[in-house]
Amino acid sequence: MDAQVKISKGDVVDRLLAERKSVPGKRGSGQAPVNIALCKYWGKRDENINLPCTPSLSISLAEFGAKTDIEPVDSDRDVFILNGEVQDKASDAASRVVEYLDLFRTEQERFRVESVTNIPVAAGLASSASGFAALALALDDLFEWGLERRELSVLARLGSGSACRSLYGGFTEWLVGERSDGMDSFAVPIETVWEDLRIGLVEISSAPKAIGSRPAMSRTVATSQFYRCWAARVAEDMAEIRAAIASRDLERLGTASEGNALAMHATMLDSRPAILYWKPESVQAMQHVWHLRSAGVPIFFTMDAGPNLKLIFEEKHTALIESEFADVRVEAPFAKSIFNLF
Ligand code: PMV
Repeated sequence: MDAQVKISKGDVVDRLLAERKSVPGKRGSGQAPVNIALCKYWGKRDENINLPCTPSLSISLAEFGAKTDIEPVDSDRDVFILNGEVQDKASDAASRVVEYLDLFRTEQERFRVESVTNIPVAAGLASSASGFAALALALDDLFEWGLERRELSVLARLGSGSACRSLYGGFTEWLVGERSDGMDSFAVPIETVWEDLRIGLVEISSAPKAIGSRPAMSRTVATSQFYRCWAARVAEDMAEIRAAIASRDLERLGTASEGNALAMHATMLDSRPAILYWKPESVQAMQHVWHLRSAGVPIFFTMDAGPNLKLIFEEKHTALIESEFADVRVEAPFAKSIFNLF
């Protein structure tokens, strides 16, 4: 039997840019939104190049995300400035950016990357997806590669899996692909506009998590027996969510999205050792959603690798949701985007 050839991130970049190697211009810029998965990406079939075991589907927020500027510098090291603060080169954020830049440059090139996110610290949203999508766009601008969105989606995926979905506004599907080099694993937009849809951000805690999504995914895939059911769960939920979007059926969208998030957390609970991101207040908030639903209010939640809830409902229930959840931030994903992506 042939030994499986391991594909590196550098190989993927070579495949996309072999014909386009160019010298950097003076400056490049990119901007990209935060996305929230309705059908989750959980588990990699290739950890080197972030290839997922299953497809996933998300909604981008119109008003939260990252804007990134990049320029070459005459220095022996990169500078990464996040929201006005120079990041220590040993920090996790700076090392991820430097490692990403290494994929695209010659040995001598160094860069100054300045990224501004407008994601409220208290919203309980991860910023790495919009950050890597904005950086991929900024690099495309700087080097004038002229890549297509789906090619940039592949490049963003190399920074952080879910970043591949932040190249578009609205609903987005990340195709699982089957190639070992991942060239067919990128995100595509779903053209449905659902103006009344609302996402409510309920922050339970902004404390750093005990385990990051990368090691948590890896442990789940390696040890959870429940994970063996995950692909079938996703296949059913993807079909439901696609159909719900096409018919703008909130009940159907919410039921499948909430169930999918709970199933993802169930695979983590079955990991050895178990992974549990929820706080007592997360469970209280979930129960409050169920209580409201039993009283006839169509409201659902989803949760990622953390304790915070994202509520899914329609515009007409905004006032009620705001009165029921203290400090909820309500977002209209199809409002005019500040990201020029539609
Ligand atoms: O892209 P990562 O490594 O940050 O993983 C994201 C995982 C989830 O947020 C839990 C699910 C998802 O699809 O975004």
